[in-house]
Amino acid sequence: MDKPKQSDYIIAGNWKMNKTVNDSIDFVVELDKRVDKTPRVEILVFPPFTSLYPLKGISDKIKIGAQNIFYEEKGAYTGEISAIILENLVEFVLIGHSERRQIFNESDIEINRKVRRALDYGFRVVLCVGETLDEREGKKTLPKIKMQIEKNLEGVDERKLGNLIIAYEPIWAIGTGKTATPEQAQDVHAFIRETLKKYVGDSQYISILYGGSVKPENSQEILSQIDINGVLVGGASLNVDSFFDIIKSSIKLSYA
Ligand code: PGA
Repeated sequence: MDKPKQSDYIIAGNWKMNKTVNDSIDFVVELDKRVDKTPRVEILVFPPFTSLYPLKGISDKIKIGAQNIFYEEKGAYTGEISAIILENLVEFVLIGHSERRQIFNESDIEINRKVRRALDYGFRVVLCVGETLDEREGKKTLPKIKMQIEKNLEGVDERKLGNLIIAYEPIWAIGTGKTATPEQAQDVHAFIRETLKKYVGDSQYISILYGGSVKPENSQEILSQIDINGVLVGGASLNVDSFFDIIKSSIKLSYA
């Protein structure tokens, strides 16, 4: 384990397949004007690949991450982006989002290879895990999460886990307007923290984010849970006003 937790909260925006280069720049420039620099809250966005280079260096308050990475370093892999290509361009990489798992059929084995490669290159990895509605209703949430963590972290060098961040995103809450209750989320986060002890001893140092229909109206309650160290926001991160409101709720809690 390399590094202690770097902030009280991480507020991350996952833009998915939205925003042109110009839209991305406008967003970051505007958000940069509104936020004050604080070590307590880390702000980051995951734009489309095309916006990563244009956004580099625009703000020292808003960090940038890639939405995906391939596990091979270079070669004949049409359409893929590797750690070598992303090195020195982004600090964060998002791996294993449920859309990648479901729509693009990414397996736990592939996700594990991506996590290992990204950590080897020194990226801070946001690894997404989460259960379907069927799994929740069948009381299989915790075994599913445990299985994903175990498979996705298999063989990872323990000394690199200081750069790991977990995002718990119940699939039934993504883009649906249904949010896990703060208690439901807290229960799973506590379980994730316990599960991570097997890898790192003191898992307090690993940030665990919640994602799934987070918006200004519910962010404060979610962020006030003891094991919730931030949020991964989809829809509400596309608009500067709503994303900034979520950031404000974290700043308020952090200085409370
Ligand atoms: P949502 O997406 O906030 O639109 O539900 C979250 C995510 O997919 O990361």
